[in-house]
Amino acid sequence: MSTKMFKLYSLPSSSWNGARSVVTRNANLAARRSSSSVGVVSTLADWKTGSRWGYSTAAAAVASLLTLSGAGAVVLCEQQANAAADEVTPSHVATEDFGVVQTSHDIETMPIYTSDQVAENNGENGTPMWMSYGGVVYDVSDFIANHPGGAEKISTAGGGAIEPFWYLYRQHFASDLPMRLMEHMAVGRLAQDDQDLVDEQMVVLEEDDPYAREPMRHHALVVHSDTPMNAEIPSPLMTKNYLTPSSLFYIRNHHPVPYMTEKQVNDYRLRVDLTAYGKGVLSLTLDDLKKMDKIEVTATLQCSGNRRSGFNDLKRTSGTPWGQGAVSTAKWGGVRLADLLELAGLKNAIEAQEKLGFEHVRFHAQDEMMASIGIEKALSPYGDVIVCYEMNGEPLPRDHGYPVRIIVPGYAAVRNVKWVDKIELAKTEAEGTWQRGLNYKTLPPSVTDAKNVNLDQMPSMTEVSLFSGITNTHVISSKHKVKPGEKVVVKASGWAWAGGGRNIVRVDITSDGGKNWATAELKEGSDQRFGRAWAWVFWECEVPAVVQTDGNIELASKAVDLAFNVQPESSDHTWNVRGLGNNSWHRTTVKASK
Ligand code: HEM
Repeated sequence: MSTKMFKLYSLPSSSWNGARSVVTRNANLAARRSSSSVGVVSTLADWKTGSRWGYSTAAAAVASLLTLSGAGAVVLCEQQANAAADEVTPSHVATEDFGVVQTSHDIETMPIYTSDQVAENNGENGTPMWMSYGGVVYDVSDFIANHPGGAEKISTAGGGAIEPFWYLYRQHFASDLPMRLMEHMAVGRLAQDDQDLVDEQMVVLEEDDPYAREPMRHHALVVHSDTPMNAEIPSPLMTKNYLTPSSLFYIRNHHPVPYMTEKQVNDYRLRVDLTAYGKGVLSLTLDDLKKMDKIEVTATLQCSGNRRSGFNDLKRTSGTPWGQGAVSTAKWGGVRLADLLELAGLKNAIEAQEKLGFEHVRFHAQDEMMASIGIEKALSPYGDVIVCYEMNGEPLPRDHGYPVRIIVPGYAAVRNVKWVDKIELAKTEAEGTWQRGLNYKTLPPSVTDAKNVNLDQMPSMTEVSLFSGITNTHVISSKHKVKPGEKVVVKASGWAWAGGGRNIVRVDITSDGGKNWATAELKEGSDQRFGRAWAWVFWECEVPAVVQTDGNIELASKAVDLAFNVQPESSDHTWNVRGLGNNSWHRTTVKASK
């Protein structure tokens, strides 16, 4: 088999469950663009048009680079030509000025490479790592360590075409970021014949859409990317119900949602693998699990990137620009993980950990997701980690892990692995990008290039920090029309939550940037067990305020937890290039005068 074919077909078979015609759409879009060509193809304006169609416009933008060549308008951004001069490198996500529409320049002068030549540069034996996309060849060597999806993942396309990988990982088309970064990495063009071959192979791939069997979703969700689904609950709805209705629970998926027929559900086995520990594999059906002692835990889950958009206001980060709605709460029902491990043969947990070195419990999912937690949390009788099959009293919805998921109360949601089919006692943490890669590592604020960072030495996210948010506001005034300078009262409500089971002891609200604070009344969720407060607290507060000259009032909330941790005032000192864990005061603007 030639290298051209090999690279493309070396995908895991699950990615071959294909989709609709990317190539056809690219061709159509390219044709449309070529007729209305104005030269600049790869601009911010191009990317901003139609996020739903983003994934095809992304490829189309590059495809049109080629189709436009006849009109003498083949372009890439100016900065590519001036890369050395302005010292912007692909790794410097934060220093890019994405607000500026860049001018174009000609890439016709760039060399043409065959796919065999690309394959020779696969990052092995001291070669740089090249890959092609839409007819352009990129040298990604400097970017590998900074790839938000992890070095391991991007390297799978080394020496080959990106198209089939992004066919599965379509989150690359949800924003302009990937292509903007790639503009700095272009080194040439792929020979037309070879790109044609890629396109032909994509047509085969596209016969099946891996996202064809996605569940129905609530129309009120704020969708950031639909394949895979990443959607948040709108702020005003967050505190309408203490338990978030399952259909409005935020969704953070990395892959297509696994689809199971009734037969597959009947055949489903959860394997609890203790072979490394010298025991066997316990295999359980869904019914077996349901026959065991059932535990119910009310727990809040939050995406580690929640409020990433706030970080972006300072400097750009990489990833979904969540507002505050990537957090929700449910009552989860299932079996204690500790009970399962004991049933599988784990006898003396302290000995397993301290003498034999079994420090981790790993979770493997049907969607190729892997994550792990420490054995202390997994086995603590007060840790309340469950192998879960119920959400709010119903079978888990598909988006939330049907048939079985893990709930690790007080931990980052990424450790609460969905669609789990194997649990394993291990000496090292889970492998893979979501545990060991850059995805869930919080770099220091000054580090924008992960190349010099030893990620293995950096802990992956586990227990979460302290958060609060304002969801609803209402201005109370005796006057019919409120004017600037007038004193009013703002009735505000919202939520607060701390990781690790730390109860919220106080929530304070300010209307004057922190000079004065009103203390909120803690409502639902304030009676949770001491040190086992896994779920959020709702609060309400009447905040005295003076209407600003612009007719607005700026409110901010900060919570205090059991350990007297307090949310930081600003995000400046917690900013990190992945945009994880933004827990600065939550600020909102209230329109007082209409
Ligand atoms: C130069 C080429 C690439 C660029 C510029 C790039 C850029 C990015 C960016 C900006 C993200 C963050 C997206 C988000 O979290 O919403 C991301 C995530 C990711 N990328 Fe790439 N990427 C490239 C190539 C690849 C390739 C070839 C793969 C192949 C598997 C890949 C797999 C992933 C995965 C798995 C994630 C994480 C998705 C998630 O957690 O939901 N990327 N990439």
